Amino acid sequence: MRKKVIAGNWKMNNDLNGTVSLISELKKGVTELTKAEVIVCPPFTSLETAQTLLKDSIIKFGAQNMYFEESGAFTGEISPSMLKSVGCEYVVLGHSERRTIFGETDQIINKKIKAAVKHGLKPIFCIGETLEEREKGITFEICERQIRFGLEGLTEAELSDLIIAYEPVWAIGTGKTATNEQAQEVHAFIRGLVSKLLSETFAQKLVIQYGGSVKPENAKELLAQTDIDGALVGGACLKADSFLKIIESV
Ligand code: PGA
Repeated sequence: MRKKVIAGNWKMNNDLNGTVSLISELKKGVTELTKAEVIVCPPFTSLETAQTLLKDSIIKFGAQNMYFEESGAFTGEISPSMLKSVGCEYVVLGHSERRTIFGETDQIINKKIKAAVKHGLKPIFCIGETLEEREKGITFEICERQIRFGLEGLTEAELSDLIIAYEPVWAIGTGKTATNEQAQEVHAFIRGLVSKLLSETFAQKLVIQYGGSVKPENAKELLAQTDIDGALVGGACLKADSFLKIIESV
């Protein structure tokens, strides 16, 4: 049985005050009895505060991005070791907003995944097709390309802590969720592909999250699908009560 992993991607939301209040509320709701693994991904400026607040909690935390170089003249960037120094365990890589707004290519994302695993950071690797690509009937092709290039040159051992998040771009922040069937179909495809690229054993253990307008109303059914092992939540993770409801639906 794969564990369900619920991650909250805060995106560019919450200053320090917002971080303290949201994490404090989440801590009250997430206890030893919680069945899911819970991760929060605040902005860089809140990571150190998250580390302090989460010391005595089972909630884990990660960053939303990083650069692949160790250090140097890369104005505005954050390195893997900087994330490690504030206690980050996870890092979201390849989010569609990084790909579309900030021009990240599959090759850049591949370098980032390599750098993350080298530093012991667990990647939450996002993939997904746009509406145009879905309508053209090339969803599988796009997901396959993103996974092949994204994981190129990485071994099973290096990827042992990998999480893949399938996030159809047309469902992110739009209120439009993929149907249970649409999501399950792509998740099963991803697991099959990973089984071919790495191994069946690896693919069976791999956590594949769904992301794109996950909310308390649709989480339970999505999470009940055979190949959906968790959720990467944007909008609905910014309020403790809705994020906790999603966690409870596990
Ligand atoms: P959303 O975002 O839940 O607001 O659609 C998900 C994400 O971008 O990870």
